[in-house]
Amino acid sequence: MDIDITLNGTERTFEAQRSDSLLDLLRRNGYTGTKRGCDTGNCGFCTVAIDGEPALSCVKPVATIDGTEIETIESLGTQDDLHPVQEAFVDNAALQCGFCIPGMIMRSRSLLVENPDPTEKEIREALSGNLCRCTGYEKIIDAVQDAAGRMGEEGV
Ligand code: FES
Repeated sequence: MDIDITLNGTERTFEAQRSDSLLDLLRRNGYTGTKRGCDTGNCGFCTVAIDGEPALSCVKPVATIDGTEIETIESLGTQDDLHPVQEAFVDNAALQCGFCIPGMIMRSRSLLVENPDPTEKEIREALSGNLCRCTGYEKIIDAVQDAAGRMGEEGV
């Protein structure tokens, strides 16, 4: 089956199997910034944005995404020009092994677009479905608080 989506701002058509998840489609086509952890909707590693809302791509059947706008971590900064949320994670040393970070950043960015000045409790709630196997949660919360100020200055 063909799937038509807008991926990171570009209209694309992908071939897919009916049994594919969005995560399968992304990774098979080189969008490997989106990570596969549990593959059952429990870790948040595979978080992307679908029509502006955070979503777990591992439990999203491709048949349900036709016509949607998908954003992955590749839509944010580049190595030389980081997105404000990425910058804040680096500057706050919020990365350890890094495997959870694309999902954390996509979820954090969605939160900050919706709520530019979240409380610590709101950040913790927003990230409650995103696990960090290195347990580096405190620095991640610091990074999101820092990112809130940077998003205000630099936009989304
Ligand atoms: Fe999708 Fe864990 S890989 S939630």
